[in-house]
Amino acid sequence: MSKTIVILGACGQIGTELTLALRSRYGSESVIASDIREGTSELMESGPFVTLDATDFKALEELFTTNQVTEVYLMAAMLSATAEKYPARAWELNMNSLLHVLELGKMGLYSKLFWPSSIAVFGPNTPKENTPQSTVTEPSTVYGISKKAGEGWAAYYHRKYAVDVRSIRYPGLISWKTQPGGGTTDYAVDIFHQALKTGSYECFLREDTALPMMYMSDAIEATLQLMDAPAGPLSVRTSYNLSALSFTPAELTRSITAYLPDFKVTYIPDSRQQIADSWPHSIDDSQARKDWGWEHRYDLEKLTGEMLRNLRKNG
Ligand code: SER
Repeated sequence: MSKTIVILGACGQIGTELTLALRSRYGSESVIASDIREGTSELMESGPFVTLDATDFKALEELFTTNQVTEVYLMAAMLSATAEKYPARAWELNMNSLLHVLELGKMGLYSKLFWPSSIAVFGPNTPKENTPQSTVTEPSTVYGISKKAGEGWAAYYHRKYAVDVRSIRYPGLISWKTQPGGGTTDYAVDIFHQALKTGSYECFLREDTALPMMYMSDAIEATLQLMDAPAGPLSVRTSYNLSALSFTPAELTRSITAYLPDFKVTYIPDSRQQIADSWPHSIDDSQARKDWGWEHRYDLEKLTGEMLRNLRKNG
């Protein structure tokens, strides 16, 4: 059966690269990008685009029905730091978009859904090192609370209504095509831009703050792999832990100075430090590796080289 794929929140950090990857795999016309705002010219020129608010149930229903959609990727969300500023709006966007899309799945308007969760489901009482798949989830941020609730709803719709929803708890994602916005792990992208532009960076996290991270190519690969996987072995219907590497701002800085020896970083922690301190240092993703064969490809050295090379070429 041919696929018709919709990406909601297609212009964000993940949505942009996911849309381009899906288009190169399944053909431009089979992949409808949608967002409330327009994205990069590369994205806008690569195939169909629909302006749409992911919290508008009627608009979603019409889009899915008219196009006979088979797969949905719901990437619209407000990230951790912005959500602390606008808790009610974050809850509305992060939860209503998911509940609407799940309900449309129950109505049979598509056959498979991808919805991202995050390391933000974990909190200060979670074991910090090698955080297990099943453990304490007592998030301290609005973003984390919305992701935790979302995981519960995803599993519920799967169990009760057989909606085939699949999910990954993404770590901090590092990409050069699109900047993140409003997250706690954003420093790890911004630092590369500033290293090349000004030769210095003021980091909003302490230098010893270890967080789980991943290069965007790996995250996209994982997402496509999970969506391709046969349903049988998928034992997790809340959301899979996923891991590649873990580093501190000081370690990332050292990795960049191997290429740019004069690069200088200062550390002035702000309110995002508290969010970062509540998250794990590293993640145990053995269940994802076992159930659908996940393997990461980028370590810190490779990631640093790729980021600098691509930003130099395209920045
Ligand atoms: N990267 C996200 C954030 O920092 C975590 O999912 O909010």
